[in-house]
Amino acid sequence: MSLTKMPTAGTPYVFSDMFHAKIGLFQSDRVFSKFGDILKEYLNVENLLFINSGTTANYIIYKVLKQLRQRADQVEIILPAYTAPSLLLPIEAEGLTPVLVDIDPITFNLDTTNVAEKLNSKTLAVMPVHMFGLPCEVESLLKLTDGSDIFILEDGASALGTTVNNRHIGTTAPFGFYSLNRGKNVSTLAGGIIVWKNDDYSELFQQYVNELTTLPALAQFIMFLKFVGLSLAVRPFPYTLMSPIVSKFKYTTLHSHFDSFKYTTMQAALGVNLWKRIDFLTNQRVKNGLSLSGIFQNRPGYRIATIPEGANVAFNQFPVIVENLETRKLLINRLFDAGIETTTLYDHPLHHIFPELSESGNDPYSNATYLAEHLLLFPPHAQIGSRIISKIQEVIDTVG
Ligand SMILES: Cc1ncc(COP(=O)(O)O)c(C=O)c1O
Repeated sequence: MSLTKMPTAGTPYVFSDMFHAKIGLFQSDRVFSKFGDILKEYLNVENLLFINSGTTANYIIYKVLKQLRQRADQVEIILPAYTAPSLLLPIEAEGLTPVLVDIDPITFNLDTTNVAEKLNSKTLAVMPVHMFGLPCEVESLLKLTDGSDIFILEDGASALGTTVNNRHIGTTAPFGFYSLNRGKNVSTLAGGIIVWKNDDYSELFQQYVNELTTLPALAQFIMFLKFVGLSLAVRPFPYTLMSPIVSKFKYTTLHSHFDSFKYTTMQAALGVNLWKRIDFLTNQRVKNGLSLSGIFQNRPGYRIATIPEGANVAFNQFPVIVENLETRKLLINRLFDAGIETTTLYDHPLHHIFPELSESGNDPYSNATYLAEHLLLFPPHAQIGSRIISKIQEVIDTVG
């Protein structure tokens, strides 16, 4: 039994992060351009804006797509049946309709070969989601919709840092977004990034972001205090002590609402400092993912996603399908006793949470259902080192 617990997620913050965040409270808007320039160079994109969350980023992209669409009855958004349920909120807020596609059991991501049959004159956009940090194939979707009035937007919320042939995911399609929320690959407590290719849309994006409210000074200060709390809570020792309090801040219920407001200077200043360590933070996720792959690859009773050729995967969580649900339960408990917290994330696919999204038939998205029910997620963040990986190996070896 281990006395300290390793949290499931968390950017390891250092003292200078707190210092820069605090200074950021008093900085001018110029810090947005500074962080923006760093990210433009990092992602190799021309156009980018920050907002308060990945959800708001997604919401603003829908607003822009509605302005750009050819016909008012283009309302359908195609997305995978297993993904973050919160993705339905901006779809609903913009009066759009979600259309689900099953996931591919080999990649754990949207099955791109099933998209064609869902396209019709009402389709506004297809949204491949790069789940767990794993890259979803985007090029075939671009080819499929080439010459049509259907847009492709990439959800890179949990995959910031993943590249395929040295190109960042989220930057292949005309539109993409990322999340800087707690628990994501790099976090400024919360935050979202929108990227788009065509300069002609820049004014429209800027206009929607300008319309958002600025958080009052007191709310920004409270946000800073929350960041200080988070920076302690993601370290194993304080996490263990604070665990009863931290559990209250974990998302356990479905979101039914989202707020949209401007990104803050505190967060941008923190981001500038965090990006000095971006290669370390990302490489650790890649390295830990490869070590975890080594543990589960070809092990009977377990399945892991196939990593596409040329991909460098910055895992947000390392997903494993555990065929036997009793084994999964046992593993969760044994790993917990060894000080390693795992998660099962969303226990249900979208069409089970919202049955109205289900087409007729037994289970139209059975791969998504199986993934949701058998998934076990291992933490690959930068605080996980070889000692924890060996402990995981030991537990898996004893459970079998
Ligand atoms: C795949 C995916 N997309 C979008 C989001 C929304 O991002 P945010 O939490 O920053 O609103 C999340 C958050 O959990 C996510 O996992």
